[in-house]
Amino acid sequence: MKSFIESSGFFKGNDPEQMLAQFGSPLYVYNEDILRDSMRKVMRMITKYKFTPNYSIKANSNLTILKIALEEGLNCDAMSECELRLLLHAGFTPDRILFVPNNVSESELKFAYDNGILTSLDSVDQVESWGKIAPGSKIAVRLNPGVGAGHHEKVVTAGKNTKFAITDDQIPALLEVAGKYDLKIVEVTQHIGSLFMNADPYITASRNLLHMAMNFPGLEFIDFGGGIGVPYHKVSQDEQPFDFQRLTEGMEAILDDFVKEYGSTPVFKAEPGRFIPCESGVLLGRVYATKNNSGKLFAGTDLGMNILVRPSMYDSWHDIEVIRDGKPVYEGDRQNVNVVGNICETGDIIARERDLPVIRRGDILCVLDAGAYGYSMSSNYNCRLRPAEILIGSDGAVKLIRRADTFDDLLKMFDV
Ligand SMILES: Cc1ncc(COP(=O)(O)O)c(C=O)c1O
Repeated sequence: MKSFIESSGFFKGNDPEQMLAQFGSPLYVYNEDILRDSMRKVMRMITKYKFTPNYSIKANSNLTILKIALEEGLNCDAMSECELRLLLHAGFTPDRILFVPNNVSESELKFAYDNGILTSLDSVDQVESWGKIAPGSKIAVRLNPGVGAGHHEKVVTAGKNTKFAITDDQIPALLEVAGKYDLKIVEVTQHIGSLFMNADPYITASRNLLHMAMNFPGLEFIDFGGGIGVPYHKVSQDEQPFDFQRLTEGMEAILDDFVKEYGSTPVFKAEPGRFIPCESGVLLGRVYATKNNSGKLFAGTDLGMNILVRPSMYDSWHDIEVIRDGKPVYEGDRQNVNVVGNICETGDIIARERDLPVIRRGDILCVLDAGAYGYSMSSNYNCRLRPAEILIGSDGAVKLIRRADTFDDLLKMFDV
């Protein structure tokens, strides 16, 4: 058993005890080098054709991370008006933003249109709403390629069991409504689901999307969506990273066939969310109590489900490292333990029956791969305050990139 935080030099010499003392526990910590490295990997996903990846900011919308994405040359996609506003605030020009909403009000659509942001509409009804607001304009449409993939049924977003996108049989109705409002379909998009470690479903779905794209002459863009996974079991099971080479080869082969047949060559896009910030982020928390309840061992921490909901929501696995006296503990006696939080739910479990070094009160736990869908899905449940986020720069300097909530922040909402 190795230590990721040690082998990657994650904290760059900063002491976790010191960071918690300064910024409070729990604490999200990001490593800028790892973050930039994953951004550069997705930039090279397709090299043979014009390609622009959109960072899907729902994974982590911290403003500093968005500004780093801007510097690295990524475009972005957004799911809501406030994500759009945040991207504009970060400095993205409208042509570098794609709005990919689902079931939104006309005022949200109008916001995108008024700001010149191309929008991928995912139902014939939303195309109708758009047509009324902006007849004669350019639109994108989100299609269902019939193949979905993901780590949990809740995040499979194509195939037969999903609310998302326009299916093959709805294309005639789509074309009719687009024609009625003189809308020009300039982009088709898909997103098949979140977290797969094997490129095959993505390539199969992309082949289907390219086939569907034949219905839409003159496309400027084709977007294959996100979903690229990270090895959440890299410490516990030596899980290997996603095979980008296989993805690139498979995608470029189907694109070769497509461009011959289609007659023109659109710009290709993808929408990776998780892959970009996930491994660059860890969550630190403190153990406040250990106990043996009817033969089950518990390590009670401040890492509640409000801070990182993935384990309770999807039964997701995050590798955990124990830190004592500033150093990872990965040798010595082990135990089978349930790592739990401080929220009033029995389901408030971060790791179930996990084989870990013996945990003591006062230890720090470091939850790996917490950079995606961590803070962005956090809440104030139980009136708990969301933690701070800090970034460790390439030079090892620590920067506060979001302060923790305060009780006054909660109270302000009642100031009506
Ligand atoms: C439309 C769309 N694009 C991209 C993504 C990003 O997915 P991932 O984080 O798995 O790459 C999502 C995630 O839900 C999505 O809904």
